[in-house]
Amino acid sequence: MSDDALDRAFTVQADVCGRFGSAFYADFGRCIAEGLADPAVRALFDAWADASFEELMGAAVPLRFLGAVHDLALSGDDPALTAVFPPTGDAAGAWAATRAAIARDPGRFTGFMAHEPQTNEVRRSTCLLPGFLVVAAETGLPLACLELGASAGLNQLWSRYRYDYGVAGSWGDPGSPLALGAEWSGAPAPWDAPLRVASTRACDRKPIDIRDADQRRRLKAYLWPDQTERIERFDIAAAMALAAGVTVEGADAAEWVEANAAPREGVTTCVFHSIFWQYLPEATAARLTAAIAGHGAKAMKTAPLAWLRMEPAPGQLIPIELRLTLWPGGEEQRLAVVQAHGATVDWDG
Ligand SMILES: C[S@@+](CC[C@H](N)C(=O)[O-])C[C@H]1O[C@@H](n2cnc3c(N)ncnc32)[C@H](O)[C@@H]1O
Repeated sequence: MSDDALDRAFTVQADVCGRFGSAFYADFGRCIAEGLADPAVRALFDAWADASFEELMGAAVPLRFLGAVHDLALSGDDPALTAVFPPTGDAAGAWAATRAAIARDPGRFTGFMAHEPQTNEVRRSTCLLPGFLVVAAETGLPLACLELGASAGLNQLWSRYRYDYGVAGSWGDPGSPLALGAEWSGAPAPWDAPLRVASTRACDRKPIDIRDADQRRRLKAYLWPDQTERIERFDIAAAMALAAGVTVEGADAAEWVEANAAPREGVTTCVFHSIFWQYLPEATAARLTAAIAGHGAKAMKTAPLAWLRMEPAPGQLIPIELRLTLWPGGEEQRLAVVQAHGATVDWDG
């Protein structure tokens, strides 16, 4: 493999996309890796010129670029690109059109890439749900949910979706417009736990307003263009979020948790997040951890605090784990190993 960090990042990202079901991005990612020899393409990544492979992957630089190309294709502003991007076309043709677009307007790409990906993957709720069930089973109280790094807030509606885990179990309203499924292995979750939602709130450093068509397109652009089922799920979830008036507060997660996550009598305050931690500067991660633990220290049996997270194992990029810490007590348990987009749940809760 190349010793050029950026080349390696795109090659690895291409492999990951291939393994996670995007044949188009597997091919397209390899075209980009080869295309980095072109100075005009390389210049798009000047902001990460000194970054290591790990830093590039941690900042999701390949996904930023893929999102920028998909956004341009979805916008219709470059008909030549749109014509050769999925659902039609192939990777080589799409890459030729992308290079032409870069030559015309590199700022469109660098502008898009300035922010980390805000992929709002609604299927991650298939991994979070069994965690909420454990919280309900252990505390017996309704949940006051506080989501961090919620993007557009699609996972705010987790309790309104239908879940099907094959023979392992199911949960939720069979009439829900959105049916989610995941492959389950391991012991059953506490499917019959008394799970009720008292309230939901969410924050993001840069919330996406689902009511704004351009922001909605940006969000869709982070999906992989040949994964039609994922795109269909997104469209249904976005319509549900619009109808339900889902909103996400603009705030830094550490400050927001300090201000809003104090335990309250009669509910379980449940701080949760998915695929968000890797974007935090060390100081923010430390401040957030301290804020949650500080609130946890004040929790009581009648006012518990739960911290549920679907994140890479500490200090790694994979595997993705579902972990829960519950106060009073502050006991931490790993509940599951899961797939990043919610396709599988290997339960050990
Ligand atoms: C990859 S997205 C994940 C979105 C959502 N949690 C999901 O799983 O679908 C990560 C989100 O974290 C947000 N984020 C990053 N740093 C943050 C911070 N310090 N405070 C709040 N949100 C932050 C980003 O803006 C982005 O929307």
